[in-house]
Amino acid sequence: MTIKAVQMNSFGPASKVAYCAELPDPTSPEPDEIIVDIAAFPINPADLLTIEGKYAAKPPLPYTPGAEAVGHVSDVGSAIENFRIGDLVMLLSRENWTQKRKVKAAELLKIDIDSDNLFQLAMLKVNPATAALMLRNYIELKPGDWIIQDAANSGVGHCVIRLAAKSGVKTINVVRRENLITPLQAIGADAVLISAGNLAEQVNQITGGDGVRLAIDAVAGQTSLELASCLADGGVMVNYGMLSGEPCMVMPDWIVFRHVTLTGFWLATQLRDMPREQIESLYKELINDISNGVLDVPIAATYSIDDIKDALEHAGRENRSGKVLVLPNDAA
Ligand SMILES: NC(=O)c1ccc[n+]([C@@H]2O[C@H](COP(=O)([O-])OP(=O)(O)OC[C@H]3O[C@@H](n4cnc5c(N)ncnc54)[C@H](OP(=O)(O)O)[C@@H]3O)[C@@H](O)[C@H]2O)c1
Repeated sequence: MTIKAVQMNSFGPASKVAYCAELPDPTSPEPDEIIVDIAAFPINPADLLTIEGKYAAKPPLPYTPGAEAVGHVSDVGSAIENFRIGDLVMLLSRENWTQKRKVKAAELLKIDIDSDNLFQLAMLKVNPATAALMLRNYIELKPGDWIIQDAANSGVGHCVIRLAAKSGVKTINVVRRENLITPLQAIGADAVLISAGNLAEQVNQITGGDGVRLAIDAVAGQTSLELASCLADGGVMVNYGMLSGEPCMVMPDWIVFRHVTLTGFWLATQLRDMPREQIESLYKELINDISNGVLDVPIAATYSIDDIKDALEHAGRENRSGKVLVLPNDAA
């Protein structure tokens, strides 16, 4: 018996090197193992970078990518007590782009709500948690405070807008297309600006001269310089992405005289350093936010695993209208 899984034997452009392979079916769990049938997974920029060999570390080849996924438990080992067949679960480990995974209980987080929101739950692990932790870990924000972010129409950007609005924090959102202004305002963005040279001036006007204390940057390069120019004294710019492929930029006099800080965020190390109870409580909150409609990220398209090359090509396009999801156990 075989299953379908995404496989890569070399690093390079995602839609060229990754393909749908037939691999042995991971049957018969050991006493401490669980089998999960993967229901859905998104394609994130970090997955594309991993396939290109440009992410944090190059994995050994051949490799099955996939930072996140949700699925249903289809078999449990004899020593498993906390999970039952049929449970909806999120995978905390990687290598998830497959029809079926065999994992230990510690790699799973149970989702105790109806699976009506399966597509949103497939995107739970990475982007909502990234947005939530960046909003709470660097600056103590109060209702009425302003923050700024770039790539605001990304999955993370949507989550930042929605989670900030939930807690009364106001967002200034930088995008590179005019046609995003209305849709982002509709989900709670307080201001939407197009990348331009006079960001500090516009932000000064919007905030009544206060500036912002938190800047959230996924682009780096010139955009990071513009974002940092909007920071109030003592403000923090958190970089979490490398979309421009350029260095992060901050003027030295802002750092020296105005105590502006540039720091980095990576969810992988955040989760690694969090006790299990804290991880569970973070995701419980985010699952509730999905369930209550606070979090709702647009989906551009869904694909079968057979069409992974088309899905990867779509996920790599600029000006997408949302995330690309793959449903590995749905027929093509
Ligand atoms: N550090 C972490 O732990 C962590 C966690 C999650 C995500 N991330 C990073 O966060 C970023 C967003 O991820 P996502 O999943 O939310 O993205 P996504 O939903 O796939 O959207 C990609 C976004 O990037 C924008 N973009 C692409 N290239 C750009 C450029 N050169 N300049 C400005 N904008 C650009 C796109 O804008 P257009 O629509 O205009 O094309 C789009 O808004 C990625 O860099 C990802 O790696 C990091």
